[in-house]
Amino acid sequence: MTEKVLEIRDLRVTFDTPSGPLEAVRGIDLDVEAGELLGVVGESGSGKSVTFLATMGLLPVRARVTGSVLLAGEQLIGASNKYMRSVRGRLLSMIFQDPLSALNPVHRIGDQISEMLQSHQNLSSRDAAKRAIELLDIVGIPQPSDRAGQYPHEFSGGMRQRVIIAIAIANNPKVLIADEPTTALDVTVQAQILEVIERVQERFGTAVVLITHDLGVIARVADRVNVMYAGRNVEQGTIDSLFDHPSHPYTRGLLASLPRPGKQRLKPITGFPPNMLNPPSGCAFHTRCEFAADICKGELPNLVSFGDLQTACVRARELPKSENFA
Ligand SMILES: Nc1ncnc2c1ncn2[C@@H]1O[C@H](COP(=O)(O)OP(=O)(O)O)[C@@H](O)[C@H]1O
Ligand code: SF4
Ligand SMILES: [Mg+2]
Repeated sequence: MTEKVLEIRDLRVTFDTPSGPLEAVRGIDLDVEAGELLGVVGESGSGKSVTFLATMGLLPVRARVTGSVLLAGEQLIGASNKYMRSVRGRLLSMIFQDPLSALNPVHRIGDQISEMLQSHQNLSSRDAAKRAIELLDIVGIPQPSDRAGQYPHEFSGGMRQRVIIAIAIANNPKVLIADEPTTALDVTVQAQILEVIERVQERFGTAVVLITHDLGVIARVADRVNVMYAGRNVEQGTIDSLFDHPSHPYTRGLLASLPRPGKQRLKPITGFPPNMLNPPSGCAFHTRCEFAADICKGELPNLVSFGDLQTACVRARELPKSENFA
């Protein structure tokens, strides 16, 4: 049996805004298994970042968070700031889209990695500096001992993202959350960063949550996928099943928007994601769904097993068979 390292149950996040309460995450259930690479996909605003910022305890105080997040059996929701500081960087690490803002411009690269090592491990400065160079090597920085003495501005965008990964994995966390880690990079560098993430996952057995708006990115590396829309999970399953026979109309739409070499691009989803201050009733996708019927505006659909996928669509059983995107 696989071990669950992260178990999220009925996670809800509401922001109090000047225009009223904004429910950004509306009851997410999600498991991350040890050593797996889980993709989380959805258009901008679907609640991907907020879900994992809540997991990390990094939301502003005006965010109301309820539900349960167990990390290796320990409850993170409602945990003290002190406990969360001891978790972040040691058991759970998160990397973001913009690698520059995460690095301190006036400190040398090697020192920034050493600082992360020494904040959670009892290491001498010398041992930390040595380990920092090894970590730079692991993430594919050439001449790591020279590069360790340089400053962030001397690194390209892709090289900075490698450094961020080195910092994130310094203490060998159980889960690495990568939030759009390749979005700001050009296509060649994107592929290299994905390779680094895969290498880390394989070498250290780290579970990785890869968050992206681009299913194409996930297709290359993920074992399983969670598709999010309007603060909910709308479909989940293995990457193979999802590409082979997606069930939820939103997943079908995302897949149809992908460029396919040698084939015509299919019909992408029309319209825009909803304003979460006032989301549509029932299935929030009904305003854009080609299969929407009156029944869709009633209850909020929950995930139900549908073949080997779990799908939150009240009409899943009646829909025409989807195209195969594999
Ligand atoms: N700090 C915040 N205050 C108020 N609303 C927020 C805040 N952060 C995110 N939101 C809102 O929460 C929703 C989900 O955002 P987010 O998780 O960032 O989406 P994604 O990462 O999927 O693009 C959006 O409607 C966004 O505007
Ligand atoms: S519940 Fe209805 S609106 Fe929502 S995805 Fe299914 S068919 Fe479309
Ligand atoms: Mg985001």
